[in-house]
Amino acid sequence: MYLLIPAAGSGKRMGGDRNKLLLSLLDQPILWWTLKAAIASDAIEWIGIICQPIDRPDFEGIVAALKAPKPVVFIQGGDTRQESVYNGLQRLPEGAQRVLIHDGARCLATAELFDRCASVLQGCAGLIAAVPVKDTIKVVEDFDKNGSDRPEVASTPDRSKLWAAQTPQGFEVATLKDAHSRGVREKWAVTDDAALFEKCGLSVRIVEGEETNLKVTTPQDLAIAEFILRQRHPQS
Ligand code: CTP
Ligand code: MG
Repeated sequence: MYLLIPAAGSGKRMGGDRNKLLLSLLDQPILWWTLKAAIASDAIEWIGIICQPIDRPDFEGIVAALKAPKPVVFIQGGDTRQESVYNGLQRLPEGAQRVLIHDGARCLATAELFDRCASVLQGCAGLIAAVPVKDTIKVVEDFDKNGSDRPEVASTPDRSKLWAAQTPQGFEVATLKDAHSRGVREKWAVTDDAALFEKCGLSVRIVEGEETNLKVTTPQDLAIAEFILRQRHPQS
């Protein structure tokens, strides 16, 4: 199984002065943890890290430290996550049939989750790891539309039908490339790859994700991630 890791963001919501994937968790960079799990997954045989040129020397150091026993290549990122994945897809080795895509910022995903997604992907064209939502979710009216100084609740979707999407997400390569190309032509802007599949009317299956598989986005997430890692590695 091939794996693409979008890692070409800047981490604006983290508020730091460099890519958040270089911030430390238990003394290792966030990307180190992500890669460690990917390397530990038996199903994954090739890893493409999509990154910005400025981060490449640091990322190369992380890969070297991990002594990965499988090929790891670097791919130029784009201005958006969608563009970054598009670039990654163009650089997959010829003959790649299926690919998993996993955000560098989801550094708590386990090797078992990668293996589970890879296994289910043998029997379908598109999938996402996801977990049922625990909160009641509200649809909120656009601030400008309601004419008041407070946003307003428009509706409450049935929670039993709501799932929080995670990565890994997995796809047939040719089908995902077509969906991305159509996305460029039709100027679709999406926040995950499954959304392109959905817009093309293609089926996306659910694989049971992990409650702990959070996307490190804000300083609070960093603190929670460190807590979870400390539980997993009490000696560190
Ligand atoms: N990403 C990417 N290329 C971009 C933007 C994001 O490869 N142009 C990657 C990020 O590095 C991250 C993943 O997509 O691993 C999910 O994005 P997000 O959590 O939003 O990270 P950032 O875009 O870096 O953070 P922010 O939105 O707060 O700036
Ligand atoms: Mg972002």
